Amino acid sequence: MGEERRGISRRGLIGGGAALGVGAAAVGFGAGRATAVETERAGAAAAYSLYGAHQPGIVTPVQDRLHFATFDVTTDSRAALVDMLRAWTDAAARMMHGDGAGPSGPTSGDYDAPPDDTGEAIDLPPSRLTLTFGFGASLFDDRFGLSGKRPAALDPLPHFPGDNLRPERSEGDLCVQACADDPQVAVHAIRNLARIGFGTVGMRWSQLGFGKTSTTTRDEATPRNLFGFKDGTMNVKSDDRDALADHVWVGEDADQPWMAGGSYLVARRITMTIETWDRQSLREQERVVGRTKSEGAPLSGGVERDQPDFERAGREGKPLVDPAAHVRIAHPDHNGGVQMLRRGYNFVDGSSDIGRMDAGLFFLAYVVDPATHFVPVQMRLATLDDMQEYVQHTGSGLFAIPPGVRRGEYVGQGLFSA
Ligand code: HEM
Repeated sequence: MGEERRGISRRGLIGGGAALGVGAAAVGFGAGRATAVETERAGAAAAYSLYGAHQPGIVTPVQDRLHFATFDVTTDSRAALVDMLRAWTDAAARMMHGDGAGPSGPTSGDYDAPPDDTGEAIDLPPSRLTLTFGFGASLFDDRFGLSGKRPAALDPLPHFPGDNLRPERSEGDLCVQACADDPQVAVHAIRNLARIGFGTVGMRWSQLGFGKTSTTTRDEATPRNLFGFKDGTMNVKSDDRDALADHVWVGEDADQPWMAGGSYLVARRITMTIETWDRQSLREQERVVGRTKSEGAPLSGGVERDQPDFERAGREGKPLVDPAAHVRIAHPDHNGGVQMLRRGYNFVDGSSDIGRMDAGLFFLAYVVDPATHFVPVQMRLATLDDMQEYVQHTGSGLFAIPPGVRRGEYVGQGLFSA
């Protein structure tokens, strides 16, 4: 059999191949399009393109599932690292399109060699998979000649009161965020990138997430976090160009020109003591958040998407939104106007030996500069927010997210070219 074995691509198996061909109108990305929708397919068959002005997986409508992984480079060879990024780019474009990770497919190629795709996504549609790549501060040491290209925004985050960060769940030379509507598609993508990277990178840590905790569009209902509250109401939305330009995308005047069009990703694994939370009265839960549990409306009145009125007081003269409520402390009005594009997920990583769920929120936020858009906000939350009683930050990562990839280029190419 060997090389003559007939290739079965993942695409070929879906609807006999026809479903993806017929009516699949390619949509190019113009200057205004942040991420190109590759085809007009709907539902699970919908696919996004890797190529665009910005990387996919940032303003892209948030998918249901996450597999996030960080990697450390295990070689000192810059050429090997670049080769791997090239291979990752090709594989990412293929997998986002709904194909296998390699050109031969999982059951073809050399019968005596490992297949170039692991196979578990063969029958599955693209599921709106996006892959977003980033570089951690540790990549900019002296191993690859990149120390002169390190953006100032990658300065380490400070220690925040209450942090209990575990090194084995923190940082990494590289990160990959895989989001998809099917967890198997997200895991398949990370697994195949790890397989391709074998010998060049080793996985440092990874995090699965379910149940998105934000939206980037206005037409979907706001999802809920594991405290049971709507989360993402006041998030930066994908059609808010001014907010994206001011708060998310790195501009042309960046200290490192290769980052123009990119962003910075802050990842925080936040453990939530949900058993303690679940014993609090509804009144206390709403006081801590500053919004109603059912509708997500501000406690100062109105409906979900109305702005809170922080001055408005109740009959006893106390503000209706408590001085220590999460939404008051995090609100742009109290943080010099800064906003962030939140894209986090719920997680449950089993349970502890005392029968508590290891649950929480894997916080992901894209910002133009963590020093101005994350650090001061988190410092206020860590010191003033009553929600701190129920949460503990147990992992952390900060990554430079380079701009989008042009066809024929590889992700992060600007960093490695002259
Ligand atoms: C487990 C941890 C967290 C939980 C359960 C949580 C929950 C919530 C909820 C329920 C809301 C109100 C709905 C909304 O506007 O999205 C909210 C808003 C917000 N949160 Fe959090 N949050 C957490 C951590 C954080 C962290 C670490 C930050 C940033 C450092 C943050 C920043 C914000 C911001 C900026 C808003 C919007 C405030 C506004 O404009 O009204 N949150 N969060």
